[in-house]
Amino acid sequence: MRVLLFGASGMVGQGILRECLLAADVTEVLSIGRSPLLQKHPKLKEILLPNLFDIATAAYELTNFDAVFFPLGVSSFRMSEADYRYLTYDLTMNIATLVAKQSPEATFCYVSGAGTDANSKTMWARVKGELENALMRLPFADAFMFRPGAIRPLHGIKTKTPLYNAIYLAFSPVVPLLMKLFPRHITTTEEVGLAMLAVARKGYPKPILEPVDIRRAAGIAI
Ligand SMILES: NC(=O)c1ccc[n+]([C@@H]2O[C@H](COP(=O)([O-])OP(=O)(O)OC[C@H]3O[C@@H](n4cnc5c(N)ncnc54)[C@H](OP(=O)(O)O)[C@@H]3O)[C@@H](O)[C@H]2O)c1
Repeated sequence: MRVLLFGASGMVGQGILRECLLAADVTEVLSIGRSPLLQKHPKLKEILLPNLFDIATAAYELTNFDAVFFPLGVSSFRMSEADYRYLTYDLTMNIATLVAKQSPEATFCYVSGAGTDANSKTMWARVKGELENALMRLPFADAFMFRPGAIRPLHGIKTKTPLYNAIYLAFSPVVPLLMKLFPRHITTTEEVGLAMLAVARKGYPKPILEPVDIRRAAGIAI
């Protein structure tokens, strides 16, 4: 399986990248992003684009992928709707529309978040909901929307946001207990990666995966 990955430098993206590199059936991962990755691997290729709106300059590299994983996103904190929409809806659609043209046989997996809803009064949820709907209309072989809730970073993975890192660190002693108490709501970076690979290999009964679906797709019995 050839995987095209956007957002590999982020917390969720690092988790997906790890599982892709460990998977025997993944032959190649092409990461496209604006920040260099910290790791090298024989299966990993990297294209750096300072501005991902310029994705068309790499169009010829986007062909013949089996899976496209898209955990690229920004926080809406202190952002206007126009700015958030530009970096969320516009950037993602700009990239995904071109990728659908170049690799129409691919399965596309987008990471939105729990609570995503095109009819929501909450700005981020509405924008991501509209984006999900638009992505599902693109001519990919299949498209799945991943809506994780809280995600526990594993295997030394860190978010670039210092505040979130502090929160993850503070909660890390109780997270295993919280996962036992709320198994349908909390997942891990490893599970998101495993779930995405499983969905790319054999699909999923529905196009939108809530946190419990992500865990089930990753092979967790709940
Ligand atoms: N973390 C969670 O607990 C959680 C839970 C539910 C949903 N989500 C969603 O999952 C997605 C990823 O979250 P995350 O925690 O992995 O975030 P993150 O650690 O901040 O990573 C975001 C990724 O997106 C890239 N990116 C952001 N803006 C970009 C831009 N303008 N141009 C190019 N690349 C850009 C970043 O690249 P750089 O490294 O170059 O900045 C990075 O690779 C987000 O949409 C988030 O809302 C996260």
